[in-house]
Amino acid sequence: MLVSAKDMLQKAKAGKYAVGQFNINNLEWTKAILLTAEELKSPVILGVSEGAGKYMCGYTTIVGMVKGMINELGITVPVALHLDHGSYEGAKKCIEAGFSSVMFDGSHYPIDENIAKTKELVATADALGISVEAEVGAIGGEEDGVVGNGEVADPDECKMIADLGVSMLAAGIGNIHGKYPENWAGLNFDVLAKISELCGDMPLVLHGGTGIPADMIQKAISLGVSKINVNTECQLAFADATRKYIEAGKDLQGKGFDPRKLLAPGFDAIKATVKEKMELFGSVGKA
Ligand code: 13P
Repeated sequence: MLVSAKDMLQKAKAGKYAVGQFNINNLEWTKAILLTAEELKSPVILGVSEGAGKYMCGYTTIVGMVKGMINELGITVPVALHLDHGSYEGAKKCIEAGFSSVMFDGSHYPIDENIAKTKELVATADALGISVEAEVGAIGGEEDGVVGNGEVADPDECKMIADLGVSMLAAGIGNIHGKYPENWAGLNFDVLAKISELCGDMPLVLHGGTGIPADMIQKAISLGVSKINVNTECQLAFADATRKYIEAGKDLQGKGFDPRKLLAPGFDAIKATVKEKMELFGSVGKA
């Protein structure tokens, strides 16, 4: 079922677990994530960056693929199709194309402009039952051309954005897209606790889920994080498994070059990564 992320995240917040957002890049990614969610009876969010959206031939192609798979694979768990780090225009396009959730990343605007644009999108999306994620502060590093300096969010600004009626709020707390550097200072739990206290029931989003140690993930969930985004880790797992297959010369044995065989180890590696994350986030059996 393609649904807004609102209900699943409110349930997660109340139940003290988190729903994973796994970014998709193609058919194999989407199928691997959907099948794993179904096997584990977990709600799931499919994330699409604007760059991945272009790569997959546009938002309407993605909506068609995801709806088709939900139907053909018999997926019964709640699935949200969500724009990741969207621009204002990108969010509008996804709403028109049939996404069930969008992120508007206005974190690079002055707070007044972030508030004004978020408010407009919430009004449009709300009328259609589509959830909106907003961002305050910035996630460090780079994802698909979206670069952030890693500013830690101001809790008072988080409260202002939360009050606009968004469904979930991403706040920079020292998290980074991609691999974490050796000298990473870790998540800023003092700021997270303050944001949580001010924003009450608002589900909070932790971006940059790749490589955050399990104890930090659990602490973040205990402090109000209900959605965790993972992208790079699935990419690394896919690349590693594919490299091993080719280095073992398996593509040269029999019909090992058939893409359905060539991409199978990477597909299985994505499934294993998603399973591990769903177990860590506590969303297994929560569909
Ligand atoms: P990672 O690539 O670090 O897992 O981050 C994913 C993310 O935050 C998507 O918005």
